[in-house]
Parts: sequence; C-alpha cells; structure tokens
Amino acid sequence: MDRRVLIAGNWKMNKTLPETEAFISAFSELRTVSDEVEVLLLPPFTSLDCAGRLLAGTRIALGAQDLHFEEAGAFTGEISAEMLKACGCTYVLAGHSERRTLFREDDPLVNRKLSAALASGLLPILCVGETLEEHRQGRVEERITSQLIADLDAVDAKEMASIVIAYEPIWAIGTGETASPEEAEETICLIRGWVAATYDEHRAAVMRILYGGSVNPENTASLIAQSNIDGFLVGGASLDPDSFARIVTAACSGS
Ligand code: PGA
Repeated sequence: MDRRVLIAGNWKMNKTLPETEAFISAFSELRTVSDEVEVLLLPPFTSLDCAGRLLAGTRIALGAQDLHFEEAGAFTGEISAEMLKACGCTYVLAGHSERRTLFREDDPLVNRKLSAALASGLLPILCVGETLEEHRQGRVEERITSQLIADLDAVDAKEMASIVIAYEPIWAIGTGETASPEEAEETICLIRGWVAATYDEHRAAVMRILYGGSVNPENTASLIAQSNIDGFLVGGASLDPDSFARIVTAACSGS
C-alpha cells in the first residue's frame, strides 16, 4: 500500500524569528525536498506567520505544536485552529508526551483538541507512547490501546483519513535512546492492527504511522526500512538544517 513518507520537524520551544528565517533559508538551499517524501516543519507559535510566508509555494508544509479546542473567546494565552490556518498551517500535533506530562493534558483534552483540529480542516498528528516503566512491565499494548481508544473517541472512519499517528515511546524522546527498528515496527503494527479492528482494513492500510524518539541521520535508514514505519517526528535533530536534511535524504533513499 502506497503511503507517502512524512518527515516532521518538531522544534518545540526553540528558535526566534531570525533563527527561523536562517533555518528555512539554509534548509531550502540544501534542496533535499522531493515529491517522494512530505516534509513538515512545526515551529513555535511566534514563528508560524513568518515560516508560513517563507514556505508558501514551496513543497515544505507547516504545522503547529498545539492548539486550543475552542474557536475563540476568553482563553488567555491560547491559540485557535483558525489562527493556525491563517498562518498557513495544515497540520497540528495533538497529545505530544511533553504536553501530557508537563502540562497535564489528559486523554479527554487530547480528544477535544484533535476533534477541534478535524472540525477546522487541520490534519492532526496524534502522538501516543508508553513510559519506561510501562515498557519494562510489558504494558506497551495496554497503554497504547487505552490512549487510542480515548483520544479517538467519536472519531469516525471518514475523519480517520485525515489523521496521522505518531508512536513516540516516552523513554526515547530526547534521550538519545531509540527504540530498535524491530521494536518500533512491532508497536506500529499493533497500532495498525487496532485501526483495522476498530475501523476497517482499508483505513489501516492507508493510515500513516510515524515513529518518534531520538531519530537522527544515522538511524533513519534502518527505521524507514521497516515496512510499517511511514516517517518520523523528529525533535532535536530537526533543529539543524543539515542534520534535518540528512534525515530527509536518508528517508527518501530508504523508503
Ligand atoms: P527527539 O524528540 O527527536 O528529540 O527525541 C521527538 C519528539 O518529541 O517529537
């Protein structure tokens, strides 16, 4: 089944406006982006407008790291889906583990955010993953399944066509410790199996499922060689244009 590889760079709370401009200019000059792979940048909110202008008409997509579920109103400090779209965003993350653990976002909140993204026409990238403790206790399937059930509550098969899932084991995020390609493949197969059982075989076969957690230019090829891994959510290694470009190139040649 043809699933277009997606490489997303999650900058987290990094890069000022000038740094954003410098990254986009340097990354564009490397000319790594082709039709083979979809490349997506997820800068902080303050850089979205600038990045949107610089990326308009290029093959690099823009997305945000978070959104609020309401359309507008008295929600100090929050950003709506329409505001993101006005900056040129087409994607938005939902349920990143840093939002879940550092900002206490629970599954019902992730579900509301994901539903708001879908309602507005943004494509949500739903992040799921287990802690080190859950991993050691052999509770990966139980943990991932419970997140999928709660986060995708009331999402129908048609809406599933707009969703990307990112499997990010929490113990691998920012730690330099990557899940082995086989381990990542096994959990991603489990997610695909859940989608098939809950929705249908076709939905599961076309669904893009990414891996995230200490992806770098060196481990990209072995991970993308796994038949169920459809791309990456890259944190630290997406901050440098050269390293992010090497990941895109490695994913192109390996996919
Ligand atoms: P990392 O982050 O690549 O720095 O581990 C991945 C993520 O949090 O999306």
